[in-house]
Formats: sequence, structure tokens, C-alpha cells
Amino acid sequence: MKRHGGALLSSIRIDRSSDRRFSVQLYMALRELLLSGAFNIGDRMPATRTLALEIGVSRTTVIDAIDRLVSEGLLESRVGAGTFVSKTLAAQIRLSDSAQGVDGHIATPRLSRMTERTSRAFTTRSPLPHKSAPFITALPALDAFPMAQWARLSARHWRKARDQIAGYGEPFGFARLRSSIAQQLNAARGIKCDPEQIFIVNGAQHAFATIGLMLVNPGEAIWFENPGAVGARNAFLACDARLVPVDIDAEGFRVEDALKKQPDFRLAFVTPSHQQPLGLVMSLARRLALLQAAKDADAMIVEDDYDGEFYYGEQPPPTLKSIDTQERVIYVGTFSKSLFPSLRLGYILSPISWMKVSLRPMSGPCGRSTRSATMRLWIPQTG
Ligand SMILES: Cc1ncc(COP(=O)(O)O)c(C=O)c1O
Repeated sequence: MKRHGGALLSSIRIDRSSDRRFSVQLYMALRELLLSGAFNIGDRMPATRTLALEIGVSRTTVIDAIDRLVSEGLLESRVGAGTFVSKTLAAQIRLSDSAQGVDGHIATPRLSRMTERTSRAFTTRSPLPHKSAPFITALPALDAFPMAQWARLSARHWRKARDQIAGYGEPFGFARLRSSIAQQLNAARGIKCDPEQIFIVNGAQHAFATIGLMLVNPGEAIWFENPGAVGARNAFLACDARLVPVDIDAEGFRVEDALKKQPDFRLAFVTPSHQQPLGLVMSLARRLALLQAAKDADAMIVEDDYDGEFYYGEQPPPTLKSIDTQERVIYVGTFSKSLFPSLRLGYILSPISWMKVSLRPMSGPCGRSTRSATMRLWIPQTG
């Protein structure tokens, strides 16, 4: 049975210690009452002056809250007559009732096969967030991160060139970042590349999913390290690829085994500089064998160099990409280890042979042309 709305209104309490504005608190309380069906459609609301006195707030606060409810269509204001519970509220109450299962029907989303698969795969991961701990493989030493310096540098850069850092940027990532990455790869990882080959993504896992979607048809084989990286595995599973587990020994990825199991493969996923999770470096013989196998199968190799910035001794282990004369290696880097993972920043170094196709005009997210200059779409060369 409905209680009289007036009695309910006097039950509204404003939390004076809250950071939330009084008008917002009042709006939320009134909205909840309205949506719970506490009022009859067409009921007249008390005058704002009466409400203000009853609840103990200013009249302006009440007017603010009422105005919001009127603009949402839950209340109706009639000039000279007052404010009334709107007819459209009945429909809203019916909708929210059925969403809560009052009529016994709760809609469950019909998931695509891809989402079914990935949600199953992702729930097998350990709970997040991971905590820093000795010997943990997935996290840098967050407590050692120079946060004060980072904050200073961030503040300095946020102050300048606002349209460059806050506007819709280059579709493949901030040009200066792409240049810096290309320079760093050349200097530290022995990879000669052009900034145009670098594509900024939201971390290595986004890179794997993107590469999988671009290159692998459902059911096609991906050679995958066993044991291997869970995040990469999930990203490739999402593309409906068939993962072929390939054992690791003291020299790394057992290319011979992989060839016996599945000579026809589309992609191989490896962590040659620091096998995840065993920590091995892949031998040169195995690297050459893998490159040869990729050539023979007309396949590509994903090199995940997730923590190539860290090493003991004078020289870091070389990258597979640095000896890739056939352009078979797609190199993936991330800032999750050298900076921190919540940044969600990584990159793909595409093979140089993947041409850039010009396309114009192209619309931006608001439907307007984002720039008059030509934009390029990244697609592999065909024919
Ligand atoms: C093998 C491997 N590659 C890449 C990453 C980084 O992934 P992301 O850049 O998506 O954080 C991790 C993180 O633990 C990893 O273990």
C-alpha cells in the first residue's frame, strides 16, 4: 500500500557533513522516492517553501533539486498551479520494476561466442590488483617508482600545448612518443625502425588482441609457449585462434616439436629475451630455426619484449627482431614494467613491408573531418 508522499518527504535527511551538495542529496532522495512508486501519478508536490522548511534547507536548494527532476520528466511544472508527479513516471517505474525482477523476469544478456570464451578465460586469472612481493613476475617495484619526479614532470607537460595533449590526436599515437620509442629501440634493442612503424596501444595485451584480429582467422593455429603468458593466451583465444602449446627447454622454444605438432601455423608467440614465466633466454639456434619455420609456413612471429629494459650484466639479451631480415617479426613493447601497468601504454612495431594506405576524407569521433591532411590506415600489403 502506498504511504502518503508528504509523510515520506519529511523522512528525507540531509547529511551536513557530506561533500555532496545539499541540492544533489535532495534530488537523489526525491528521485528514489518517486521511482519507488511512493507517490500517485498526478499528486501535487508541496510548495518549495514548505519543503525547504520541513527538510531544513534553503528554498534555492529545493528549487535546484525540483528543477532537475522536472528536466528529467519525473515531475511536471504547471505555471500558476504548482509541481506534479508526472505521467511518464508510471512508465519509468514499470521499467525499473522489471529490471529488478518484480515480474519475475530478469533480462540476461545474450553474449557473443567471443565474449563467452573470453569471460571464461579471464575468470581463471588470479584476483586483482596484484600486490608487490619479492620475486613476483608480473609487477615492477611500485614502491621504488619515483612518483614525486613523475608528478613534477606530468604537471610541467600538462601545462603546455593543450590542443596537442588533450585533443583528438594522431590515430596511431602521439608523434613524439612514436619517435622516441623508435630511437630507443635503435639505441637499446638493436632494432632499426621508423617512427611510422610504431603504433601506440593500451598495453601489450591490447597489442596481442589487435594482431590476432588482424592476422588470424577463427580456428587457425598459433604456436604458443608452454608454460606461457596468461594475458597473451587470453587475448589470442578471444580471436578464436587455436593455440598449439609448444614446450620450453633450456634453449627456449622447441621449434622442432612445434613443427611436428603443427607445421602449418599462422602466428607464433614468443618471449625470447626473458621467457615468461621461466625466465630463460632463447638460444640463437632456436631463433634462427623459428625465423626459418615462419618463412616456410608464410607465418608471422609476435615477439613480446615485455621487460627488455631490465637485465643483469652489461648487455641485454638481443631481440629476435634485430636479426629478422625477412620482416616476419612483429615486435611488441609495453611500459607496464619500465613505468607502471595502470598506465595501459604499449606499442606494436609493425613490419616495414606493411604499407600505409591513404584515405580521405575521414571523419573524427564527432562526425566532423578531423583534419584536412591525409590520414593513413594501417593494413597489410596485399597482392
Ligand atoms: C609476458 C607478458 N607480456 C606482457 C605483459 C604486459 O602486459 P600489458 O602491457 O598489457 O600490461 C606481461 C605482464 O605481466 C607479461 O607477463
